[in-house]
Amino acid sequence: MRILAIESSCDDTSAAVVEDNQSLISVISNVVSSQTDLHQKFGGVVPELAAREHVGNVLPVINAALAQAGIDIKEIKNSIDAIAVTSGPGLVTSLMVGIETAKTLAHTLGLPLINVNHVEGHIHANFIDRDDIQLPAIVLTVSGGHTNLVMMDENKNLTIVGQTRDDAAGEAFDKAAQLMDLGYPGGPIISKLAGEAFDEDKLRYHIDLPRPMIGSHDLDFSFSGLKTALLYALNNDPEWRKKISSYCDAFESAVVDVLVSKTLAAAKKHNVKTIMLSGGVSANRKLRATMKESAEHLNYSFSAPDLAYTSDNAAMIGAAACHKFYQNQFTDITTLRAEPNLEI
Ligand code: KG4
Ligand code: ZN
Repeated sequence: MRILAIESSCDDTSAAVVEDNQSLISVISNVVSSQTDLHQKFGGVVPELAAREHVGNVLPVINAALAQAGIDIKEIKNSIDAIAVTSGPGLVTSLMVGIETAKTLAHTLGLPLINVNHVEGHIHANFIDRDDIQLPAIVLTVSGGHTNLVMMDENKNLTIVGQTRDDAAGEAFDKAAQLMDLGYPGGPIISKLAGEAFDEDKLRYHIDLPRPMIGSHDLDFSFSGLKTALLYALNNDPEWRKKISSYCDAFESAVVDVLVSKTLAAAKKHNVKTIMLSGGVSANRKLRATMKESAEHLNYSFSAPDLAYTSDNAAMIGAAACHKFYQNQFTDITTLRAEPNLEI
């Protein structure tokens, strides 16, 4: 069974062809057209510009994904079993471009349509090329717009058990990078600089940032206070530009400590077999390494998506759609609308 998947919820236009032979999901093609360069000069995504770019990109990206999968456009109907698309959460006009394209394709080709929640897509990126993940699992979903702890049961049903009360973890990285004049998106830049910090500098400068809500007896997060603490620390240190890698390390360590601690608490509370990461921030090397080590130390299995599928892409939407296909969860073409605040 093969699915053509489309993702356009934020600033990446992506199309993928994924195949599920009922035991393994594999990616035949996954094309991503990034708009990072366009939005970089504004320090964040400009919704109107993003939507306009999607309009121009969506058909070339779909054509490239089909071509890379060796599918002749005239033969789509014989090679594809369903069309999948992200229907939310995300930027409403960006979502609309992917949705209307998917609806038109499904309608004209007479193929079934499957709508996918973007966050659910990030989670299902874990199942690409892997058939050995033991369930139930606790999934930490960390991206620019979301920070949730999600329980996945044996049937892959999802329930949110914890979430951020303010900023998402990726948003915190992006805002911290802005405070330090490092550019956008902030996560990869902070992570790279943090990796360059020398141990002796870290000890010498002793930059001490808080771990917000680490001791609270719930599974929620808060990152806005950490950003404010960084702002105060920078304002009180005229030499901060010379210590930039140590500041990046201190910020990254504070975020990772909180994420790991709360995820382990959730795993214990919900008695799961596996700890899973998902979302753009799951590309973070320190988060991946610390979570893996902590999870395995406590005898949990660990899973994180391949780095090719951590940031926004259509292959993860296709992977989630494969699950829905076998559950007969198809979408009514006439009623599907963009849902910017769609929840799990
Ligand atoms: O999932 P994603 O691509 O888009 C959303 O759905 O939001 O996540 C993007 C976020 C951005 O905030 C970016 O700064 C963050 O993921 N990010 C990282 C890293 N790579 C991307 N954060 C920390 N470390 C990274 N290596
Ligand atoms: Zn995302």
